Amino acid sequence: MAPHLSSLLLTAWFLSTPSLSRTLFKYERTQLTREYVESLPKEDSKLFAFQDQVIAPNTTDKRCRYGPSDGKWPSEKAWQKLVKQLSSDDALIQTVPQASVCYGDAKNDVKCQNLTKDWSNSYTHIDDPTEILSPIYQGLTCQPPSIYNSGSCTLGGYPSYVIKVQTVLDIQLGINFARNNEIRLVIKNTGHDFVGKSAGAGSMSIWTHGLKDIQFFDNYVDESGYNGPAFKAGAGVQAFELYKAANDHGVMVVAGEGETVGIMGGYIQGGGHSPLSSLYGMAADHVLGFEVVTPIGEFLTANSTSNQDLFWALRGGGGGTFGIVTSVTIKAFKDVPVTTATWTVDSKNLGKDRFWAATKAFFDRTIDYPSNGTYSYFTIVPNGADYQFKMQPLFLPNKSAKDVSSILSSYFSQLTRLNVPFSPKITEYRGFYAAWQTAFPLEPQSDVQLAVGSRLFPRSNFASETGRNITFNVLKETVESGKVLIAFNMAPTLERAGNPDNAINPAWRTSILHIITGIRWDVTASSTEILAARSALTNGTMQRWRDITPASGAYLNEADRMEPNWQQSFWGNKYDRLLQIKRDIDAKDLLWAVHAVGSERWSVESVDGLPNENGKLCKVDEPAAATNRAMRMLE
Ligand SMILES: Cc1cc2nc3c(=O)[nH]c(=O)nc-3n(C[C@H](O)[C@H](O)[C@H](O)COP(=O)(O)OP(=O)(O)OC[C@H]3O[C@@H](n4cnc5c(N)ncnc54)[C@H](O)[C@@H]3O)c2cc1C
Ligand SMILES: *[C@@H]1O[C@H](CO)[C@@H](O)[C@H](O)[C@H]1NC(C)=O
Ligand SMILES: *[C@@H]1O[C@H](CO)[C@@H](O)[C@H](O)[C@H]1NC(C)=O
Ligand SMILES: *[C@@H]1O[C@H](CO)[C@@H](O)[C@H](O)[C@H]1NC(C)=O
Ligand SMILES: *[C@@H]1O[C@H](CO)[C@@H](O)[C@H](O)[C@H]1NC(C)=O
Ligand SMILES: *[C@@H]1O[C@H](CO)[C@@H](O)[C@H](O)[C@H]1NC(C)=O
Ligand SMILES: *[C@@H]1O[C@H](CO)[C@@H](O)[C@H](O)[C@H]1NC(C)=O
Ligand SMILES: *[C@@H]1O[C@H](CO)[C@@H](O)[C@H](O)[C@H]1NC(C)=O
Repeated sequence: MAPHLSSLLLTAWFLSTPSLSRTLFKYERTQLTREYVESLPKEDSKLFAFQDQVIAPNTTDKRCRYGPSDGKWPSEKAWQKLVKQLSSDDALIQTVPQASVCYGDAKNDVKCQNLTKDWSNSYTHIDDPTEILSPIYQGLTCQPPSIYNSGSCTLGGYPSYVIKVQTVLDIQLGINFARNNEIRLVIKNTGHDFVGKSAGAGSMSIWTHGLKDIQFFDNYVDESGYNGPAFKAGAGVQAFELYKAANDHGVMVVAGEGETVGIMGGYIQGGGHSPLSSLYGMAADHVLGFEVVTPIGEFLTANSTSNQDLFWALRGGGGGTFGIVTSVTIKAFKDVPVTTATWTVDSKNLGKDRFWAATKAFFDRTIDYPSNGTYSYFTIVPNGADYQFKMQPLFLPNKSAKDVSSILSSYFSQLTRLNVPFSPKITEYRGFYAAWQTAFPLEPQSDVQLAVGSRLFPRSNFASETGRNITFNVLKETVESGKVLIAFNMAPTLERAGNPDNAINPAWRTSILHIITGIRWDVTASSTEILAARSALTNGTMQRWRDITPASGAYLNEADRMEPNWQQSFWGNKYDRLLQIKRDIDAKDLLWAVHAVGSERWSVESVDGLPNENGKLCKVDEPAAATNRAMRMLE
């Protein structure tokens, strides 16, 4: 008996221990090779060659990426050759905007009404190959008419073609095909990006949404020294899927609050704040490795011992920049009980002075709460002549209801002194999953008349009474001018994160508040009026926020598309190294997204002059070329 038992144990030990970092998902084992490309007829091999193959076309000096109306756009025959190489016959999708059922030849009133009814639901857009959640950046060329009447339906900033990715091969073919034909390439996962990075007129899009594999390791061994639970998850895995898997295995992971966010795409590559951020820092702090297809077309691993620069850059350097990630391996943590608290304070019953005094009392404690591991998500909303503060929720991992009463007691006493009634709803949960599921609302698609901006507020702003007063008064004025604040109080310090070295914005480490605000315009506003509104946000409100936080920055994943000095704002002193890594890995700027690392050499020339994706991607003029062009126009 004994030998049998020990051999079983040995087998089990073998299955759950070393070399697990080398595990690839099934879809990652279907790959394109240089040999295969060389075996193709010459005409075909030129379409699919890796950047470094001799047969690859030399493409360097075109001013703009080719679009469907250019003679150099790939022929129908070339697209058919692509279809033939992809891992399935239906992998190449030609874009049909959903709202095309509301216009022209395809008009169908029943379908259009049905679509309009579900339009604001984010799921309507996430499961579509080309829709994005911030539709203004598509250019609003095909919305349901009752939401925005564009008169007709055109592709605008939607890509022309989409590869619905099923294997690594599909990504490699797409990357090589786009580069060799000099067409624009974009990546869409869920389309959550705040500034339209997952869209692009006349582009081919790589759609990673279907990569849903999840694998759990209860004892993952990474050569860097980590030894513990971990997940490897496909690039398409969303928060609700990852959290469910974690719960099934009795662990929790550092991921987003929003249920539909694509955790392994833009979220984690841009840093990723989480309900667990005051305990464990940012999501990207816990990555053990990425599988990634580079702009050259190569599939490789980036981890602490292989391709270390790329590994560093992918953890905070931003999505859509260094490569197309196919899966990410992250640490998991032992589950803990969670308590949440929600409450509302409304000026209607209190008058404005008491309302603001009560709100200030909360801000005065924003240094203290994260020291107890908390993450709070709250809004301050002007509502007619009144204001409402809504905590939804204060999220307290590893705390009981009793702990929460003690943590909130000083705030409570102050509200009592101010004669402000306070009866928060406090709920205890056995673990993270149930608390998260109940606590955070599903966010809808963004409006068609809204632009947002954000700022990270440092702890130092709240360290003295003078600092607290100045900071609070600026935020109060923002609300009094009719704007909403969406605020997150957390402290993802380096220490809480375990002192990792990665590309996350250093401004996060000293911040305690991440606050988003926005500006609205009339749905019928002209381009000039929209630009004026945007200027009032970026150079007005946001400038006042920057003036009181001069050494800080903003979160690239939830920022203003017009962010000035964005390199410093999104990455601080890490930008130079990121730019070097970008130049090394993507010398041809194949991957371009607005305000991504290394994006300076190109811009979208939008057809309506507004900041959006509805136009060609072209090189930014050298000063001399710009002068020449201006001269020609004068002649
Ligand atoms: C409702 C909502 C809730 C949110 N909640 C949170 C939150 O709790 N915490 C937080 O930190 N942020 C949050 N965000 C912001 C979120 O992090 C960003 O929108 C992020 O870019 C989403 O990534 P995605 O892959 O889902 O979106 P997409 O728009 O599909 O992609 C975003 C960017 O990443 C690129 N990208 C996507 N997949 C890949 C890939 N596999 N490889 C390389 N590049 C890729 C895209 O090209 C694009 O540039 C939220 C946003 C919304 C709209
Ligand atoms: C590619 O073309 C550019 C200019 O068109 C030229 O300078 C460069 O040497 C060429 N590179 C190769 C590898 O042929
Ligand atoms: C209405 O929309 C739902 C999804 O939102 C879809 O399942 C259904 O088929 C649609 N019905 C019609 C008639 O288009
Ligand atoms: C990094 O990935 C390589 C290739 O898969 C693997 O051999 C190596 O063990 C990994 N490094 C760590 C630290 O796990
Ligand atoms: C949770 O709280 C317990 C008791 O206070 C503490 O020992 C433990 O370290 C905490 N866990 C985490 C993850 O902070
Ligand atoms: C909250 O944090 C403070 C300061 O670190 C500490 O003194 C207090 O014990 C904590 N309270 C709870 C309930 O954890
Ligand atoms: C801060 O503001 C409060 C309330 O408005 C005021 O009573 C206090 O004197 C101010 N303190 C400083 C240092 O400005
Ligand atoms: C803000 O002002 C600068 C400098 O005048 C200008 O270049 C920029 O376009 C303005 N931003 C917006 C959003 O209007």
